[in-house]
Order: sequence, then C-alpha cells, then structure tokens
Amino acid sequence: MDIENRISSRLKELGEYVFHGVQEAKKKALASGKDIIDLAGGNPDLPPHPKIIAALKQAADVPELHRHPIYEGLPELKKAAASWMKRRFGVEVDPESEVLILLGSKEGIAHVSWAFINPGDVALVPDPAYPVFRRGTILAGGKPVLMPLLMENRWLPDFQTISKEELPKAKLLFLNYPNNPTGALADREFLQEAVDFAKESELVVCQDMAYSEITFNGKKSESILTQEGAKENCLEFFSFSKTYGMTGWRLGFVVGNAKLIDALRRVEINVNSGAFHVLQKAAVVALALEDSEIDPVRKTYQERRDILVKGLRDLEWEVKNPKGSIFVWAKIPYDVDSNRMANLLIEQTGIITAPGSGLGPSGEGYLRFSLIEDKDRLEEAVHRMKSLKL
Ligand SMILES: Cc1ncc(COP(=O)(O)O)c(C=O)c1O
Repeated sequence: MDIENRISSRLKELGEYVFHGVQEAKKKALASGKDIIDLAGGNPDLPPHPKIIAALKQAADVPELHRHPIYEGLPELKKAAASWMKRRFGVEVDPESEVLILLGSKEGIAHVSWAFINPGDVALVPDPAYPVFRRGTILAGGKPVLMPLLMENRWLPDFQTISKEELPKAKLLFLNYPNNPTGALADREFLQEAVDFAKESELVVCQDMAYSEITFNGKKSESILTQEGAKENCLEFFSFSKTYGMTGWRLGFVVGNAKLIDALRRVEINVNSGAFHVLQKAAVVALALEDSEIDPVRKTYQERRDILVKGLRDLEWEVKNPKGSIFVWAKIPYDVDSNRMANLLIEQTGIITAPGSGLGPSGEGYLRFSLIEDKDRLEEAVHRMKSLKL
C-alpha cells in the first residue's frame, strides 16, 4: 500500500513540524557532545508552588478521583475558575454554562476550529503566532488568513488591512495577548476595537491568555471579557502551564459566551474524556493562590528578560523590551534568514532558538529566545554569542 497516498490532504497541507530543522540540528549538536542551551520551546522550568504539589499528593490518595472524569470538568474547578475571573478581572462568568475545562489550552484552541469551521471557511490568524491557530484551522479544513503583527503597530493586527474578499468568509478571529512571540500586551482600546470589529464581521473571537499572569514592571494583562459586548462573541483561553509551571499536567480552561462554550463542549465530549480529577483538585488550589505567591514567577522571568535583552542589545540586535510572556523576540542584525541564523547559533554556540519564519512569514528576520534557562545560563548564552562569526 502506498501510505503517502492514504494521508489526508489536510495533514499534507500542514507539512513538516514548524521547528523540524532546528530539532535535527539539535540532535546533531547533542550527538557531538556540545553543551546545549535550549531556548527554543515554551516549556517553563519553574516548578509548581508547593501548595499545588501538596494538593496533588493529597488528591492522589482519594480512590474516587481516579475514576472516569466528568467531561466538562469538575464543578469545583469550574467554580474556582469563575471566582478567579471575578477576583482577577472583575468579570462575571457562570461556572455551569460559561466555563469549560480543557486538556491544556492547546487542545481547546485546536478543537475550536472543529466547532465553527466548515471546509473553505476562513480563520483570521496573527502572523507570527503560536502555530496551533493556523494548524488547527487547516486540520478542520479551513483556510487561515494571516494578519501581520508589525513592530510599528505595537505588534497588534490592523483589521483595516484584512482582505475584503476573505473577510466575508471568516468565522474566527484568533488573538493572543500577552503575545507569543513578541511579548506585546493589548490595551483596553485595542480589545474593544477587536470586539467591535468581530461583531460587525460576525466573527467568534478566540483570545489566547496562556501568559495572562506573566507580565513585567507591574503591568497587568486585561481580559477581553471586560469589554462592552464581549460576552456576545468571545472565548478566552487560559492555561495552567505557564503561570503555575503545571505544563506536563495538560490542563487549561476556556470562558466566554455560553453558546460558544457549548459548541466547543460538543466537540470535546466526542474526542476527549475529561481531565484527570486528581489534577483538577490541585488546580483549584493553584487558582486560589494569592497574586503575591505568583510574584516570584514574574520576578524570575523579568530578571531573565533583563539579562537577555541587555546582552542582545549590547551585541547590536534590535529588541523591544517584552511586556509579558516568556519570550524575547529579536531582530537578526545580519543578512541571513532566520533558519540559517538558528542553525549557525546551534553549530557555533550550542544555543537553540526558534527561527521566526517557523511562526509565520512575518516572523522572517527574527529569532525567538525563550526565558526557560536560569540567569547564569542566559549570561553564558550572551557570552557565547560574542564569538559568533558570519
Ligand atoms: C500562545 C500559547 N498558547 C497556548 C499554549 C499552550 O499551552 P497549554 O500548555 O495550556 O496547552 C502555548 C504554549 O506554548 C502558547 O505559547
């Protein structure tokens, strides 16, 4: 059998995994015994708060919690998510109908297209961006239409430039602030503009808040649901991975309009069987943490950011100081494309980064550095980059 012939056109359209080239180069570098500083992924190194671990251990001793999960999530966690939305943003959501527990926000973001996209429908996707917005759309048979994020627009999409031909076919509008990869935050004015634009164009807004709590210099992210009319057309996705370091647990939640939540729920119950209740019990404790208990996480990322941004600027890379997220988005100061630059860095310095072009065509010319190694290793990375030869 010709297996290639059996592969769906959707899967073929996805092509290689975005960072395939870098992964291959990493394998080679490791095989040659190089000391690798891996700043490519979004995999936080900070462990969960001890209170979360204690709750996890305690929950693991309860036999009942090992049984088949409730599809939509434990009512206790849905209530905790609703209380957290109220406490953190002043947003009221009904835990029963306006909250859904996810197996990581990636899973919900990938499946949201299945709920709304028919073959040929369009999803508006930021460029550069977390690849799942685009790839989830393709897997559902839809067409991603890219919205360039440019430095001169503070990394916010310009809705006026979206093709007039494509806009009537669009059903979803993906946004992500605090932004991966640029580190930008969205202000209230932009969020209101997005809600209004989506209303006019009959779009469902999917705002990805995976980095909602990782913001710097005392700035806070805003929930899109604080904006007028947002409850009519918005979904907001949250993650336990970044703020709480629970990355391997695969846990997230989505809040927003009850009918939109219900549509996603109908997809979810057909492809997933709910998140492990033991993890959900511990997640309740995570959401009850005081903001001051999350401060050390923010402080750690901010200190790392400061080291890397200063180091790169000293080496004449153009870098905007990220206001949030765990990434530094840096413009390559040489006449080489981002794949070549990432490979040169691996070969000459053992530093692994994400080439910007892997995050979308507008990412060409940039590298993304993740703040997932400690300060000494980041100092070491900057030091090694001084000897880079092109
Ligand atoms: C912007 C963005 N959204 C979502 C996710 C996925 O997070 P989770 O671990 O909750 O699936 C990531 C992880 O890298 C991300 O960068």
